[in-house]
Amino acid sequence: MSTYNRLKGVHDIVPPDAFIWNKIETTVKDLFYIFGYDEIKIPVIESTEIFTRSIGQSSDIVGKEMYTFMDKGGRSITLRPEGTASLVRCYVENGLKWKHSSPQKYYYMGPMFRYERPQKGRMRQFYQIGAECFAAAGPEADAEMLFMINEFFKKLKVRQLRLEINSIGCKVCRPAYKSALSEFFAHKEDLLCNDCCERLTKNPLRILDCKVDSCGQLRKGAPLIVDYLCEHCKSHHERLRELLDKMHLSFNDNPLIVRGLDYYTKTTFEFTTDHLGAQNAVAAGGRYDDLVEEFGGRSTPAIGFALGMERLADLVNMVQVPPYNDNGPFFYFAALGEDAWMYCLSIVNNLDKNITSICGEWTRSLKSHMNKASSLNAKYVVMLGSDEIQKGIATCKRLSDGSQVVIALAHIEDFVKVVQSGGRP
Ligand code: HAM
Repeated sequence: MSTYNRLKGVHDIVPPDAFIWNKIETTVKDLFYIFGYDEIKIPVIESTEIFTRSIGQSSDIVGKEMYTFMDKGGRSITLRPEGTASLVRCYVENGLKWKHSSPQKYYYMGPMFRYERPQKGRMRQFYQIGAECFAAAGPEADAEMLFMINEFFKKLKVRQLRLEINSIGCKVCRPAYKSALSEFFAHKEDLLCNDCCERLTKNPLRILDCKVDSCGQLRKGAPLIVDYLCEHCKSHHERLRELLDKMHLSFNDNPLIVRGLDYYTKTTFEFTTDHLGAQNAVAAGGRYDDLVEEFGGRSTPAIGFALGMERLADLVNMVQVPPYNDNGPFFYFAALGEDAWMYCLSIVNNLDKNITSICGEWTRSLKSHMNKASSLNAKYVVMLGSDEIQKGIATCKRLSDGSQVVIALAHIEDFVKVVQSGGRP
């Protein structure tokens, strides 16, 4: 075994998993386009404060999990543990609100970093696809987002997911709920796990989603947020439920979905599965109506989500059969010699992008080209060397039966188009 190993909690994504990842990314990008989302590329590093003030000091992420270091200029820098805070910073800093009509919708993809205890589905470097919808106050935006996420899963044929929703209220109604929870758990402090004892003073809501069994027992009979929601939050939640029903999107109302990040208001949600063990949330998110203002922008209600790529890829793996890179290239161009290779490259580059073709290395012999073409599962091999170029011809061989035809180079683009669309060579 090599002495150079990857770090704990960090993964290489190699084929065939890399094919699945590509498939997920392209499927999701197509859907983002349909729903009007534009891509934003956010930095991997940010000032630490971006995360401490948004995700919250009392959260596990800020308290225990951030990769934070001082740079050479003495600034505290953090590897992003999630994308929302960066996107809100980017939104405010670039004045995106005032440049486009409402709502403004953006998505991002990339690695996130959390110093967690690694286990199946829980990594220290993991990849998220996330989206944020700004300047959308109504429950219709929540419903549209949940519908869109559900469409991702449908397109990827992943069906065994449950949608859990909740409302955690707003700055008007949540304080009373927090006090009620603190009071409820105060008598049980001695029995709570160490983390929950801390949560009791910092953020008692988080006791509700503690995974420790004994804390699960202790929260039986705890006050429920639904009894504390203000009129505004209550009607938002009721309308969301109504819309989901209309869309035939089944969901569970789960008062324990309180989320581990402090910026949420009103709607919170998770798409969970029973097929991934303890790390059962595949996508999660919620509304954060106050965050843009906290970052210095104008009051801008917003909602977003992120899905965990590793977890989703595991689910896609369960329902789709390899090879995921479809069926190999349709055409394999076998160039014999450097001149022919350059000629082939220019042909392949000019072909319609729907035609899947690949250009073999010029150093290969004809036999080695043929082996490579069949190992790639190519359908046709187009062979040419310098002689053929001079004569303006190439030979095209169908691998399934070995039949071949001579074609004129002047018409090669039309020829491959006809063949790929099912015509006879
Ligand atoms: P989150 O729940 O922390 O939310 O992460 C979203 C998803 O990322 C999780 O449901 C899970 O699939 C995946 N994930 C999280 N941590 C790990 C890990 N250590 N290893 C593997 N996968 C992981 C957020 O990050 C919010 N920014 C979502 C959001 C966007 N809310 C509003 N906008």
